Amino acid sequence: MALLITGGAGFIGSHVVRHFVNRYTHYQIVNLDALTYAGNLENLTDIEGAANYQFVKGSITDSALLDQLFTQYDFKGVIHLAAESHVDRSIAHPMAFIETNVKGTAALLNACKTHWSTFEGRRFYQISTDEVFGALGDSGLFTEDSPYAPNSPYSASKASADHLVRAYGETYDLPYVISNCSNNYGPNHFPEKLIPLCIHNILKGKELPIYGDGLYTRDWLYVTDHAQAIDQVYHQGKNGETYLIGGHNEFTNIDLIRLLCEQMDARLGRAPGTAQKSITFVKDRPGHDKRYAIDASKIERELGWSPAHTFEQGLAATIDWYLEHEEWLAHVTSGAYQSYYDKQYGT
Ligand code: NAD
Ligand code: DAU
Repeated sequence: MALLITGGAGFIGSHVVRHFVNRYTHYQIVNLDALTYAGNLENLTDIEGAANYQFVKGSITDSALLDQLFTQYDFKGVIHLAAESHVDRSIAHPMAFIETNVKGTAALLNACKTHWSTFEGRRFYQISTDEVFGALGDSGLFTEDSPYAPNSPYSASKASADHLVRAYGETYDLPYVISNCSNNYGPNHFPEKLIPLCIHNILKGKELPIYGDGLYTRDWLYVTDHAQAIDQVYHQGKNGETYLIGGHNEFTNIDLIRLLCEQMDARLGRAPGTAQKSITFVKDRPGHDKRYAIDASKIERELGWSPAHTFEQGLAATIDWYLEHEEWLAHVTSGAYQSYYDKQYGT
C-alpha cells in the first residue's frame, strides 16, 4: 500500500514519516518535500535506509511531478503537511504562502481527482491549524463548529486550502478528512518559532524577544502526540469530518518563557534567574491573535486519542534534544539556510 506524505522533512512531517515508516512496515511511504529552509533530511537519518521509505525532492506545486508520482505509485492515501508554516514570514512574504499552501494544495487535490480511477479505499488527509478559526477572547474553546475567521496571510492560506479540500469532497466526492491542531513543540522544530528560538537564544546568550505584553495565549502539544493523532485520524476518522487536536495545555507566552528559562538554567547548571534577564519585550506582531485553545473532546471520544505527554515531560525532552543536537541547531541557523528564503521569494 503506497502512501504519499508531503512536507515530511519538516518539523511535524518528520515525526509523522518516522511514525508511519516504523509502525506500518507493509506501507510504501513516499515523502515529497521541496526542502525549503524548513525542510531538512537530517531530521530523518535514522529511517533513510528503510525498505518501505522513499524520499522525493520536489514541490507540491509541480503538477508534472505529481502526475509522474501518481502514475508510478498507486497511492491509497495522501497525508498533506507541506506548507509555509511561519506567521511572521507570511506577514513579510504573503505570496509564497498563497503559492504553496493554496495552489500547492489545489495541485495535489487535482492529482487525486485525475489519477484515482476509483475513490474506494482512498483518502486525502489535510493537516491544518487552529489558526483558521482566528482569535479567542479570555474564555471559550475552539470546536469543530467554530467559524473560520483567519487573521494572518498564513492562516488565510491554510483556511483557503481547507475550503478547497472540502469543495473537492462536495463536488467530486473525493474522500477526505481534516484535522486542525494547536501549537506543536518538540525535536526538529525550526528555531524561528517561539520555543526553539528561545532555547537557541538562551544557549547563545541572545535576547528572548516577547511580542507586545506577552499575554498572548497558546495551547501546546508535544509533536509525537500529534503524530499519533494523525495516525488515528487517518485510519479511523470518518470521511468528510473535521477533528480538532490539542493538548489542554494553555500558557501565556511570558509564563511559558519564564518556565523555559527556569528549566534551562537548571539544566545548564546556571544560577536561577540567569536566562530571564534576557527577556525583552519587543514590538507586537501585526494582527496578533490573542488566544488559541482547543476542545479536543471529539477526537478523544470518537477515536480514543489523548496526549501521552504532560507539558513538563515534553518540555524536558525538548530541552534535552536541543542540548544533544547543537550541531543540528548550528546547521539550520547557518547562512545557507537563512538566505534560502530570501533567494526564493520576493515580497
Ligand atoms: P515546517 O515549516 O517545519 O515544515 C514544512 C515542510 O514543508 C518543510 O519540510 C518544507 O520543506 C516543506 N515544503 C514547503 N513548501 C513546499 C512545497 N512547495 N512542496 C513540498 N514541500 C514543501 O512546518 P510544520 O510546523 O512541520 O507544519 C507542518 C504542517 O502542519 C503545516 O501544514 C502546518 O500548517 C501544520 N500545522 C503546524 C502546527 C505547528 O505548531 N507547527 C500546528 C498545526 C498545524
Ligand atoms: O496554532 C498552530 C500554529 O502554531 C501553526 O499553525 C503554525 O504553523 C505555528 O507556527 C504556530 O503559530 P504561532 O504563531 O502561534 O507560533 P510562534 O511560535 O510563531 O508564536 C507563538 C507565540 O509566541 C505567538 O503568540 C507569537 C509569540 N512570539 C513568537 C515569536 C517567534 C513571540 O512573542 N516572540 C517571538 O519571537
